[in-house]
Amino acid sequence: MMREVLMPAAITETRVLEMDRNDPLLKLRQEFFIPENTIYMDGNSLGLQSRPAARRVEQVMVDWRNRGIGGWIDGTPPWFTLSETLGNMVAPLVGALPHEVVATGTTTLNIHSLVASFFEPCPGRDRILADELNFPTDLYALAGQLRLRGLDPQRHLVRVPSRNGRTLEEEEIIAAMTDDVALVFLPSVLFTSGQLLDMPRLTAAARERNVLIGFDCSHSAGAIPHRLHEWGVDFALWCSYKYLNGGPGSPAFLFVHERHHGSRHPRLPGWFGFIKSKQFDLLPDFSPQPDAGGWQISSPGVLGAAAVAGALEVIREAGIDAIRERSLRLTQLLMRLVDERLSNPPYSFTIVNPREPERRGGHVALVRDHENLRIASALRARGIIPDFRPPDTIRIAPVALYNTAHEVYRVAEALVEIVDNREYTRFPVTRGAIT
Ligand SMILES: Cc1ncc(COP(=O)(O)O)c(C=O)c1O
Repeated sequence: MMREVLMPAAITETRVLEMDRNDPLLKLRQEFFIPENTIYMDGNSLGLQSRPAARRVEQVMVDWRNRGIGGWIDGTPPWFTLSETLGNMVAPLVGALPHEVVATGTTTLNIHSLVASFFEPCPGRDRILADELNFPTDLYALAGQLRLRGLDPQRHLVRVPSRNGRTLEEEEIIAAMTDDVALVFLPSVLFTSGQLLDMPRLTAAARERNVLIGFDCSHSAGAIPHRLHEWGVDFALWCSYKYLNGGPGSPAFLFVHERHHGSRHPRLPGWFGFIKSKQFDLLPDFSPQPDAGGWQISSPGVLGAAAVAGALEVIREAGIDAIRERSLRLTQLLMRLVDERLSNPPYSFTIVNPREPERRGGHVALVRDHENLRIASALRARGIIPDFRPPDTIRIAPVALYNTAHEVYRVAEALVEIVDNREYTRFPVTRGAIT
C-alpha cells in the first residue's frame, strides 16, 4: 500500500516503448552495429562498434595502402599527432585542459608509468593508500611499484577495507590519509558494485594533507562527466574500450594536471614523450614534452587509435551530460523493475550498487544468495549479454548511446522467466575463461 503511494504507476511495456519514442538521444543507436538478436548490456566491459569507428579504421588502412610511411604526416588525420588529437577530443568529457590528456599505452601500463612518476617515498612517508575493492590489475601494479622501490607491499600498500565487501566509505578513506601516506590511488567507480566515489571530496582531502592523488577512471570515462582539472586531481588514467567504445585493447588515456607540467618528469621515458617538435632530432638524452604528452612511451597503435577517434565523434555529438542523464534514467528503470518484480521470493534479487544518482556509475549490480553464475549463463543463452564478476555479482549496463528502455524491460522479463522456469539449471556451475 505504502509503495503504491510513493511510486507512480507500475512500469508497463507500453510505457517503456513510449519512453523510447520520446528519447532524442536514441537516434544515435543507428550509429552502432548492434549484434543480431542480441540485447547487449555489457558496454561497461566492451562497448559496441560504431560506424564512425569502422570508417576511421578503414581510413587508416587506405592511408597506409596509398601513402605508406607518409601517413605519419599526411594521414587523415596525421598519425604523428593522433594521440594528442585524441587527448583534445576526450578532454571536455573529463573536464581537462587539452594538453592535460593524451591517448597512450594501456590502463595497467599507465598506472605503472604514472605511479612511478608520482610516488616519491621518503622516510616516514612511504606508503601508497588504495582500497581492497579496486580491480586486481591496479593492486598488482601498485604492489609492483612498491617492490621496485625495495618496499614491502604487505606494509606499504594500505588497502582501505570495505564494511560490506561491496562499497567504500569516503570518510574511512580520508581517515586513512595519514602522515605516512605519500600517494593515494583509487578507482572512480568500483568495478563490481558500481559505486561512484566522491572524487572532488577525496581530492580536496588529499590536497589538504599534501598527499598526491590519482584515479583509475576506466568505469566512469564516457559515462559520467568529470572535472579533473577543477577538482585538482594530480593524475588519472582510463581505458577506452568500455563506455568510450574504442574497441578491444584500444589505447588508454592519461591525465596529468597542468601544475605538474614541466616540473614532474616521466620515470618510464620513451621517444614518443620527447618534446614533440624535436622528437626527430633523435638526441641521446631525454627531454620530455612539458605536458601530458611527455608520458607517451612508444609509437601509437594507429589502427586502435583510429577506432577511438571514431567512437569519440559519437560521444561528443551526444554530449557527456546528456549521456549521463540518460544512463541514470535507464539504470533507474532497471532498478525500479527489479524492485517491482524481482525482489521478492522466488526471485530474491538484491541491488548492491548504491541507489543515489551521485553515488552510482553506469551499471546495475544484482545479487541473489545462490545461482548467480547460472542465471547470467541463462541470460546469455537468450541473447542477453550481461557479465558476471566473482563471487556473485551480475552486472547489467544499459548504455545511454545504444540501449533502449524496452531492452531494459525485456531483461527484467527474462530474469522473471529464467527463475520461474528454473532455466538456469541447464547450465554448468563452473565458470568459463571469460564471464
Ligand atoms: C578499473 C579497471 N582497471 C583496469 C582494467 C584493465 O586493465 P588493462 O586495460 O590494462 O587491461 C580494468 C578491466 O576491466 C578495470 O576494470
